[in-house]
Amino acid sequence: MKKILTIVGARPQFIKVAPVSRVLRNEFEEIIVNTGQHYDYNMSGVFFEELNIPKPNYDLGVGSGSHGAQTGAMLKEIEDVLFKEKPDAVLVYGDTNSTLAGAIAASKLHIPLFHIEAGLRSFNKKMPEEVNRILTDHVSSLLFAPTETAVENLKNEGVVEGVHNVGDVMFDAVLYNITIANNKYKIEDFQLESKQFVLATIHRAENTDDLVRLEAIFESLSKLEDTIVLPLHPRTKGKLDTLGISDKIKDAKNIKIIDPVSYLEMVFLESHSKFIITDSGGVQKEAYFAKVPCFTLRDQTEWVETVDIGWNRLVNPVTENLLDIVNDTQSVEYVEHLYGNGDASSKIVKVISDYLGK
Ligand code: UD1
Ligand code: UDP
Repeated sequence: MKKILTIVGARPQFIKVAPVSRVLRNEFEEIIVNTGQHYDYNMSGVFFEELNIPKPNYDLGVGSGSHGAQTGAMLKEIEDVLFKEKPDAVLVYGDTNSTLAGAIAASKLHIPLFHIEAGLRSFNKKMPEEVNRILTDHVSSLLFAPTETAVENLKNEGVVEGVHNVGDVMFDAVLYNITIANNKYKIEDFQLESKQFVLATIHRAENTDDLVRLEAIFESLSKLEDTIVLPLHPRTKGKLDTLGISDKIKDAKNIKIIDPVSYLEMVFLESHSKFIITDSGGVQKEAYFAKVPCFTLRDQTEWVETVDIGWNRLVNPVTENLLDIVNDTQSVEYVEHLYGNGDASSKIVKVISDYLGK
């Protein structure tokens, strides 16, 4: 049996690895390496338990740090694991520092690299994720693009070999878990009423590391008429505390800050929300999957398809008035299958089998 070494480390990667690993293990030996980029129980452990992700073979425990320190520490540790395990290929997900560290380690040792969620571009190189994606794509042997737009982006950079449009593994994850979530929870469990609250998440560096933007975001949220449920990412919590914004938020009675929730809780809350406000890549798509309107507090998005059909609206929190935009938004026609058919994991494993042989 061929050996594939999977590298994960951050919350969205735990969610993506669950459906892929389930199928991959039917045909391959999988070694999971968790870099430990995210480490709080509600950012990491809860997903392994709830989504039945196999226990990592290696927990590197790298934790937080500046980009160089964090990525460098991961790179060194991953290289040691690669020397030891000698896998036939390395599999990485998305665009975090864990993705980049895995990509550099594998490519320097001439181990074929497979990238899930290849070809996404925001065309803003100030985003750490954009740099991570571009570099990873350019050293990958198999590039699993979720959309035609991603395939085109790669083509425009001269990357055509090994590119496969398979759809989005996050759609696989939602389809598998939404029934489980619906059987597990009632909206009353959260002291909420269905469609009577707004769900929000904020964590992007471009929003949290800019005081003007961060203040504008919370100012805008406080002006909305609805109750806003905000599972707060630890990065944002840290910034609010150090910048002294926390007290102002406590005065905004409509904003209900809670700790990060589990994936099952999240997809359940998404489906019962009136609309979603976010800067998360994954949550933008989950809003579309849940058929809930979305307002994205960013200047660009990689997930352009949801914006193109009018389901997702980009809002600059500093120069635009979120309340007016929310109130003026008309309902739009839903377009099915922007991100494939929910069988991305099987398609990925088929392509890998053809590439490696079993
Ligand atoms: C990372 C990814 C981002 C992704 C996000 C998903 C990079 C460059 N960024 O951003 O693309 O959208 O994960 O959530 O890889 N912290 C904790 N506990 C944790 C994890 C983080 O307290 O379990 C705090 C630390 O103060 C840390 C900060 O959050 O310094 C940022 O964490 P980090 O992993 O560096 O980046 P994210 O903002 O989470
Ligand atoms: N998510 C979660 N609990 C939360 C917030 C988000 O389970 O409290 C899930 C969400 O449903 C989605 C993923 O985390 O599947 C998105 O991750 P995140 O927003 O951290 O990163 P991004 O997608 O922006 O890289």
